[in-house]
Amino acid sequence: MRTSSLTLVRPTSRLKESFLEGLAEFQQEQLPWVMQHDIEALRADFDQFVRDQLGKKTLWTQDTPVDETELWAVLDGVYVGRISIRHKLNRDLEIVGGHIGYDTRPAYRGKGLASTMVALALPIAKSLGIDEVLVTCNDSNIASIRVIEKNGGRLRETKPQFEGGPLKRYYLIAT
Ligand SMILES: CC(C)(COP(=O)(O)OP(=O)(O)OC[C@H]1O[C@@H](n2cnc3c(N)ncnc32)[C@H](O)[C@@H]1OP(=O)(O)O)[C@@H](O)C(=O)NCCC(=O)NCCS
Repeated sequence: MRTSSLTLVRPTSRLKESFLEGLAEFQQEQLPWVMQHDIEALRADFDQFVRDQLGKKTLWTQDTPVDETELWAVLDGVYVGRISIRHKLNRDLEIVGGHIGYDTRPAYRGKGLASTMVALALPIAKSLGIDEVLVTCNDSNIASIRVIEKNGGRLRETKPQFEGGPLKRYYLIAT
């Protein structure tokens, strides 16, 4: 697999089938941040979903929502993952989420795709005026830790997300 041909694109109806396949896979493994989607409803009006993604905001935080640039990773015309860039931090994002979040479809993992996604997203973050991105991940997420460190992530601290909660790592990456 040539990860060098990976591109990031804005959400588009052209990727409907492989996006929905990927979403089903993410739901199968219970990724918490995709469980709210009803795949059949999205299939019925994918154009509206794409419009929503193009104007995405961090609606899951209790704090004021911030704008988010959603990008889909495409390899040989197939949706293989996603990455999003939050334009600024609110109090909740400081604790979990940070500026950047990403997922690779299970069958495409371990091939360097998330590392490439982050590398491609950093200049986009810079163009949004972010000089240093905060990336958070679970202390147990070895793959994500590697992705961040391969992209120059500097560990700021490791601490529980909340009292008695899971250990989180907080990294900063210069854009
Ligand atoms: C974390 C995630 C995005 C990594 O995606 P990926 O495309 O497999 O990442 P890469 O292929 O770029 O791998 C990065 C590094 O992690 C390593 N890695 C991948 N999976 C691993 C695993 N299960 N255990 C240990 N190391 C692993 C790779 O070998 C690579 O290291 P290397 O370059 O030193 O060989 C993917 O596992 C995923 O989508 N997980 C579920 C969602 C998630 O956790 N998102 C991130 C939230 S912070």
